[in-house]
Amino acid sequence: MNKTTISQVHKYVGEDVKIGAWIANKRSSGKIAFLQLRDGTGFIQGVVVKAEVSEEVFQQAKGITQESSVYVTGTVQKDERSPFGYELQVKGIDVIHQSVDYPITPKEHGTEFLMDNRHLWLRSKRQHAVMKVRNEIIRATYEFFNEQGFTKVDPPILTGSAPEGTTELFATKYFDEDAYLSQSGQLYMEAAAMALGKVFSFGPTFRAEKSKTRRHLIEFWMIEPEMAFVEFEENLEVQEQYVSHIVQSVLKNCSLELKTLGRDTEKLEKIQAPFPRISYDDAIKFLHEKGFTDISWGDDFGAPHETAIAESYDKPVFITHYPTTLKPFYMQPHPNREDVVLCADLIAPEGYGEIIGGSERIHDYEMLKQRLTDHGLALEAYEWYLQLREFGSVPHSGFGLGLERTVAWISGVEHVRETIPFPRLLNRLYP
Ligand code: 4AD
Ligand code: MG
Repeated sequence: MNKTTISQVHKYVGEDVKIGAWIANKRSSGKIAFLQLRDGTGFIQGVVVKAEVSEEVFQQAKGITQESSVYVTGTVQKDERSPFGYELQVKGIDVIHQSVDYPITPKEHGTEFLMDNRHLWLRSKRQHAVMKVRNEIIRATYEFFNEQGFTKVDPPILTGSAPEGTTELFATKYFDEDAYLSQSGQLYMEAAAMALGKVFSFGPTFRAEKSKTRRHLIEFWMIEPEMAFVEFEENLEVQEQYVSHIVQSVLKNCSLELKTLGRDTEKLEKIQAPFPRISYDDAIKFLHEKGFTDISWGDDFGAPHETAIAESYDKPVFITHYPTTLKPFYMQPHPNREDVVLCADLIAPEGYGEIIGGSERIHDYEMLKQRLTDHGLALEAYEWYLQLREFGSVPHSGFGLGLERTVAWISGVEHVRETIPFPRLLNRLYP
């Protein structure tokens, strides 16, 4: 007997296999039972025909409860009608554990109920598909940066300094000292870029943001590349190549998952570099032309503004050169203008908002010191960071891509809470 998994059944068409699985769902009549089997690698329908199995096996199939675990044996058959392409003609069922009343039934449930049962909700077909897309984005990320000669570097999670402003920090104690959970690995990645040239990180980041929106998590994962001798425009080119690569990889390797999610893949096919660019100045003018009266030069964009700008394009759009006052201390000023910096946010299409924030970094010692002081940051905590500008300082740039927002966009799911296994939200630390 071939012991295999659902994802591998295509190798055994016409043969008998044994699969360890859970019963995702069940339908039966007097003569036939349909078992929706799942094993983590995929979903397959098991067909139990009364006339072809023993009475005992048929009664087992009829009586089995949702989420019971089984070893099932049967013959693999091609099935053109199923999106998966195969089904299993069941011959035997060995019940490992009969499940008690499973709370998540095939009927509709409210969001809070599903979130309370997130540890079980993860088993559903849709959540399975989202996690597979997330995994593919991570796989394609490593592939892209390794092929481009980047080295993966891991910045610390416990830190003594704040790259993105001090208001959203998670403070904790580091024995007798004050410490913060990392809100971005960027400053450490700048040090790493001076040692290794092109580096990227992938890790959790924490922001005590009081925002309760479909785009905000308290704990989220960020991919942060940093590159020595790379200037503003070159940084944007890396970003558009990278984002195109992950979208095209998901299209290629997750077609079944995208179908499960009902994603419009035609929209994703168009995501190929280059991406359009619009300056902050022009974005403000555009919004005024569109009739937005609630924003003027110097204000940050809200979700409706970002969505209005994104709607003009069928690709992600870079908004470049934001006012200095809106951005963190480390951004390189525009060479001819004091009031804007060499930065860009990448806004995803279809209303998914900002997925990347990036910039060229200040590499002049005196200027950086001045900016730290202007931002009211304690120089002692940044001494090591300033020192990077004392020993062969070079122009350098980098960016941070928020994984969950990117998963939401590519999967077409409305809220980031479904894009991470166990979301940490404003009022949720359970499960
Ligand atoms: O724009 P941000 O704040 O940029 C930085 O942290 C830079 N230090 C990155 C760098 O240059 N190395 O955050 C980067 C991205 C955002 O574009 C967004 O996709 C995501 O991180 N992000 C969040 N995602 C979910 N929940 C939140 N609360 C997020 N805050 C930022
Ligand atoms: Mg940002």
